[in-house]
Amino acid sequence: MTFADVDLVAAARAVRAHAWAPFSHFAVGAALRHRDGRIVTGCNVENATYGLTLCAERVAVVKAISEGMRPDEFTAIAVVADTDEPTPPCGACRQILWEFCGNIPVVLATPTEVRAVLAMADLLPRPFDARFLST
Ligand code: THU
Repeated sequence: MTFADVDLVAAARAVRAHAWAPFSHFAVGAALRHRDGRIVTGCNVENATYGLTLCAERVAVVKAISEGMRPDEFTAIAVVADTDEPTPPCGACRQILWEFCGNIPVVLATPTEVRAVLAMADLLPRPFDARFLST
């Protein structure tokens, strides 16, 4: 499988080297494309309490927001892990990605191959979002 945004996948592969994963030893890299062309990366950052671990996807999103990018300005995210089956975002990350990015393509890759390109709407059907808060 190919995906046109090779720089995005390359950025997710590169940042994976920064993963802090002393408990799982499972390194993940993510790269988020802003519509102005910028790329924001994230890696997983684990914590001894386990539950406070931050996934690579959420780190990329909060970095982007903290740098002044706004929700719905993102066009794609790439996620890289070294697995036979492509690693899709966890449930918590799907909720965050939906709220900040909407129905973007999610590119699942390994260090050597792009394995799948999935739509957020397929990964998180019938999502809860802010619209429900205003009814
Ligand atoms: N992890 C991610 O960073 N993203 C995913 O999509 C799946 C899981 C991390 C969390 C934890 O540090 C490790 O992978 C094992 O679950």
